[in-house]
Amino acid sequence: MKEFVLVLDFGGHDKESIARSVRRMSVYSEIKPGRLTAEEIRQLSPIGIILTGTLHSPLSTLHSLGIPILDLCGVQFQLARDGHEIIRNFLFHDCGAKGDYRLDGYIDAQMEQIRRQVGHERVLLALSGGVDSSVCASLLSKAVPGQLTCLFVDHGLMRLHEGDEIERVFSNRDLSFIRVNAGARFLARLKDVTDPETKRKRIGEEFIRVFEEEAGKLGEIPFLAQGTIYPDVVESGGIDGKTIKSHHNVGLPENLAFSELVEPLTGLFKDEVRELGRKLGLPSELVDRQPFPGPGLAIRVMGEVTEEKLNVLRQADYILRDEISGLETKPSQYFAICTDTHSVGIKGGNRTYDPVIAIRAVMTADFMTCEYAPLPHNVLSRISARITGEIPSVSRVVYDITNKPPATVEWE
Ligand code: XMP
Repeated sequence: MKEFVLVLDFGGHDKESIARSVRRMSVYSEIKPGRLTAEEIRQLSPIGIILTGTLHSPLSTLHSLGIPILDLCGVQFQLARDGHEIIRNFLFHDCGAKGDYRLDGYIDAQMEQIRRQVGHERVLLALSGGVDSSVCASLLSKAVPGQLTCLFVDHGLMRLHEGDEIERVFSNRDLSFIRVNAGARFLARLKDVTDPETKRKRIGEEFIRVFEEEAGKLGEIPFLAQGTIYPDVVESGGIDGKTIKSHHNVGLPENLAFSELVEPLTGLFKDEVRELGRKLGLPSELVDRQPFPGPGLAIRVMGEVTEEKLNVLRQADYILRDEISGLETKPSQYFAICTDTHSVGIKGGNRTYDPVIAIRAVMTADFMTCEYAPLPHNVLSRISARITGEIPSVSRVVYDITNKPPATVEWE
């Protein structure tokens, strides 16, 4: 039985940071709801219990278990400067932990589990090119080579060269890779649409339509793989092991005839998924990819989405990423926005009237809140000079200096 620390959640925001901090110290942790009875906890056999959230009265039944308890209720872990030290001391002093948790063990166990679950059947995966679905594809192709089909619906709303990069990485692995270039269909569905929520809805609906059409051509595939990760499970209320609902990362159709889901990443946090991707040989462009919204550049083009605006945005975004790639400390997320404001400029002695490009760069641990990243002025100057110099139809660049809240990360 491996060492395991129980993070007992009484409704706080810190549970994931705490559980992750424990794992970084090589001790396996899991989050469970505070309503667990003393008997249920005893059966889990944790070497220690960490209480998090809001607990108004001490739980004498917990103390009667004789398991070391660290009470972090009311303490805001993310704000506590010595929070990690408190946990380290608890794990290795109070609980006598050895620190035996390794990702390699997780990989071996999952490969075994996938082989047992899937047998000789085929598996279908909707590959978005994001970290989770990419790592999921890679793990499955190792576990059941030749049985995996990856369906990549390219909605034409990706960043510069991104679709080609995904194709390059996956088309020479031991799996069947299908790329559907559906950009024209998505653009047609977005014609005249300016409302952000309508954009999201139309893209989601079209995605399902394309996926269904293409999956229907592949014959019977009983297993559907998803890159669901541990925070998805925690956030969808599945931490008591009873109410895990399938978390459709890409909004997959409910009525497809798959008999079972394969979700090999449900035990991992995001940084563990990245580490796993590195171990599986995925390139840094995929493994260290910053978050990218499902609706893609459509929600970074203000107003109606057109091919022309997308092209301008792709170039501006590429320049921004190129300049930031040289920085030692990178923001958590950074991208360009094509605003629907036009401004007057002068280029080559002529008056111009072109869309204003905005730059967004944020620092955050969880994307629930964020601070704008104070990019150095010389970097901002270079980005502005390159965007206005290299893209003929841009003559003004502005920098978004708003935190979340009150703003969101994305502009739409
Ligand atoms: P907001 O704009 O809500 O963004 O502050 C927080 C994080 O979520 C990403 N985001 C999305 N991801 N589909 C996604 O898959 C979406 O519709 C979507 N909207 C925002 C955003 O990029 C940021 O990392």
